[in-house]
Amino acid sequence: MRVGMIGLGKLGLPVATAMAARGLEVVGFDPHVSGYPDDLSYEDGFAESVDTAEGRVRFCETVGQVVDAAKVVFVAVQTPHEPRFEGVTPLPEERADFDYSYLRDAVAAVAHEAELQRKHLTISVISTVLPGTTKREVEPLLGEYVSLVYNPSFIAMGTTIRDFLDPEFVLLGGDGQGKVRAVYDFIYADQQKVTRRYTGGHLHMVPFYDTTVPNAELIKVAYNTFIGLKLAFANTLMEVCHKTDCDVDEVTGALKLADRRLISGAYLDGGMGDGGGCHPRDNIALSWLARELDLSYDLFEAAMEQRQAGTDWLCDLVWAKAQEHDLPICILGTAYKPNSHIETGSPARLAKVLLYERFDHITEVAKRLRAYDPHTEDFQGSRTPPVEPHVFLVGCRHPEFPEMELPEGSVVIDPWRYMPDREGVEVIRIGAQ
Ligand SMILES: NC(=O)c1ccc[n+]([C@@H]2O[C@H](COP(=O)([O-])OP(=O)(O)OC[C@H]3O[C@@H](n4cnc5c(N)ncnc54)[C@H](O)[C@@H]3O)[C@@H](O)[C@H]2O)c1
Repeated sequence: MRVGMIGLGKLGLPVATAMAARGLEVVGFDPHVSGYPDDLSYEDGFAESVDTAEGRVRFCETVGQVVDAAKVVFVAVQTPHEPRFEGVTPLPEERADFDYSYLRDAVAAVAHEAELQRKHLTISVISTVLPGTTKREVEPLLGEYVSLVYNPSFIAMGTTIRDFLDPEFVLLGGDGQGKVRAVYDFIYADQQKVTRRYTGGHLHMVPFYDTTVPNAELIKVAYNTFIGLKLAFANTLMEVCHKTDCDVDEVTGALKLADRRLISGAYLDGGMGDGGGCHPRDNIALSWLARELDLSYDLFEAAMEQRQAGTDWLCDLVWAKAQEHDLPICILGTAYKPNSHIETGSPARLAKVLLYERFDHITEVAKRLRAYDPHTEDFQGSRTPPVEPHVFLVGCRHPEFPEMELPEGSVVIDPWRYMPDREGVEVIRIGAQ
């Protein structure tokens, strides 16, 4: 079976490779991608999947080649937001929808080629959009040869391949899902076979959820923002615990057992705010939609405001310790999640901006505020840990920090509660007793 992939970026290329690893032939087109990058370590299992795919991903030079070769064409182009809506700077007053120009161009190009080749095909859009977008921006471009399914992926950067091959569910929005469904049946055939054998055919290991396009659009962003809400809640509990005699891990530890009413315990640990290239921006975009729709209450804004206020409160603690001991400040870990080199949407970057704003002069900032992350090209270029005492804010829960030498006389503000005690260093574990 052969499918097309338009857009071979952070989502499209790993997904195309995962499909090919399961035996599909994938013909891909991206004007900026003509092969695999040298370094594939940014995605777990990427290099292994490329091997398993055995050359079944073909990099084409035109959209026409993709349309010629495939009857189902996945579209994974970017739907970007302005940098000020990424969540690494204070939340602006204004809100905005995503930019759909790339999506429009990609769909129009496929529809145009289908028309030229008089070929009927199905486009399966996996990019993230707000509800109503497909009808407004995309459907008018389809023409008479192309039908459309909205089929977003519920995956996280760094684990794209694993998440795609072992999804919680597959979401298909729109009529005429048959061809796309057949592709997924092929991809998950082995899982389904095993499950059928052990459950007598009553259960499928990978559930399919069929719905309308607008429902699917909302489900995608609702999934992401629910995670932001869970973290806002967990971090509110962390602050309550820090200011009372409660311990946040004890409290969330109990809540996580309530898996009948409160769903899973994932994303229910106190720490820094939600981060990454999808969640904060989706929250901000839904807050834009809340204003457009004149919702009675903008819960999405509330989640973002908790994220910012909670980060600001941690910065207050850091700042107070820096004043008390006359120490400079270092953010330990600027990636948005452990073991990642990615800083997009990182709450640690937001913390750095909020701390920056506390200084009177920029010359002071250069001397008294820095960041260190062994996984990233730190956005201010620091590649070595400080040797002088600092107030450290652990901005990312990288696994190596508990083992790291810290200069005597330092103070550590640890929202993850995993840094051990050490000689001559004050460790403040947020929300712990
Ligand atoms: N990266 C993720 O983990 C992830 C997860 C879930 C959803 N998403 C969503 O998926 C979409 C893509 O995200 P991404 O992170 O892969 O973006 P990206 O910027 O890394 O990749 C997009 C790619 O599409 C290409 N492109 C743009 N216009 C094109 C066209 N007309 N024809 C062919 N190729 C074209 C670009 O050159 C780029 O390489 C976004 O809507 C994003 O919100 C991403």
